[in-house]
Amino acid sequence: MHGLHLGGSGVDIEMRDDAVAVRGLPRDRRRAPLTDPPGTQTGRVAVTPGRYRASAMPADPSRPLVEARALCKRFGTFTAVDGIDVTVERGEAFGFLGPNGAGKSSTMRMIGAVSHRSGGELRVLGLDPDRDGPAIRGRLGVVPQDDTLDLELTVDENLQVYGRYFGLPRSVIRRRTDELLDFVQLTDRRADKVEPLSGGMKRRLTIARALVNEPELLLLDEPTTGLDPQARHVLWDRLYRLKQSGVTLVLTTHYMDEAEQLCDRLVVMDQARIKAEGSPRELIARYSTREVVELRFRSGEHEVAVDKLAGLVERNEVLPDRLLLYADDGDALVAAVHDLGVVPDQVVVRRSTLEDVFLHLTGRTLVD
Ligand SMILES: Nc1ncnc2c1ncn2[C@@H]1O[C@H](COP(=O)(O)OP(=O)(O)OP(=O)(O)O)[C@@H](O)[C@H]1O
Ligand SMILES: [Mg+2]
Repeated sequence: MHGLHLGGSGVDIEMRDDAVAVRGLPRDRRRAPLTDPPGTQTGRVAVTPGRYRASAMPADPSRPLVEARALCKRFGTFTAVDGIDVTVERGEAFGFLGPNGAGKSSTMRMIGAVSHRSGGELRVLGLDPDRDGPAIRGRLGVVPQDDTLDLELTVDENLQVYGRYFGLPRSVIRRRTDELLDFVQLTDRRADKVEPLSGGMKRRLTIARALVNEPELLLLDEPTTGLDPQARHVLWDRLYRLKQSGVTLVLTTHYMDEAEQLCDRLVVMDQARIKAEGSPRELIARYSTREVVELRFRSGEHEVAVDKLAGLVERNEVLPDRLLLYADDGDALVAAVHDLGVVPDQVVVRRSTLEDVFLHLTGRTLVD
């Protein structure tokens, strides 16, 4: 366990694997945190505002923002991240796509310098998270998987308090708060408490909070999980704009449509390992066909039809409720199905997606 000093304030942050503990604060401050310190994802910690200052050292523009080689995370004998290689270049939107338990958050927490690696090499902004944690955290924006907003404070106060952790002058915080609330479309809720906000609004506020220190790299752990489709689209739009403005995004998701919409490049992660890497388009070209025919059958006819169609295409996937047939020309394939005398109850011809890539790589669907 390492003790990390916050700007020489005499306050130690000890990083454990799923908690951040503080020594050197009065007892009541330990129990009554205002909010998380900058960059931590799970913190239950109070830090004197203004003590933490982001490093002024710019990252070497020629180096990747994240470089991981054979990166591992173990919890006791369990391996959550098993030797992954990842490179994130400046300005790109990079994704970790994978199901529950794949090791996405464990990876993000190591990149966010709040969890030590168990093995391998890791550089974030050219620095070593084990040695330079505070400097890295000062230059990151973090949207953790679970919102860590202070529900008792107002929307506005959440940003102001967070800004003070970075030691920013009040006038700067005020200006950025105005800009960021406008950006995430929460200006009209600025004086309201956070508690009653919708899930989508809370997520947008968390994104605004992560941008207070003008981070070089924004880490987003499942930015839209649990939100309704409309709220997800609003968030995607904001993240797309951030990407356009040059912010480097690293995000995790188990939504293939989110990965396709937002990521320039992604890795498919499953059971602690990376199964494939590329742009959404490259992955689909490499691991799937152009089109997919989805067939549903009346009850009792599924298995007979699966047998009859078994040799029709090189690749098919038998799911409990559907048969997926892979081909570049879906309509021609549907005609071939009919020629064999098979009459499905429902026929859908669609383009291949990352879901098909995941199914090919793992034999399972992404969202069960
Ligand atoms: N602090 C911990 N102690 C022990 N095991 C852990 C800890 N954190 C994560 N794990 C385990 O490591 C594995 C990977 O977890 P992780 O949270 O990284 O997955 P994930 O891909 O983010 O999943 P999800 O989509 O559910 O968020 C899981 O089996 C999880 O139970
Ligand atoms: Mg997770």
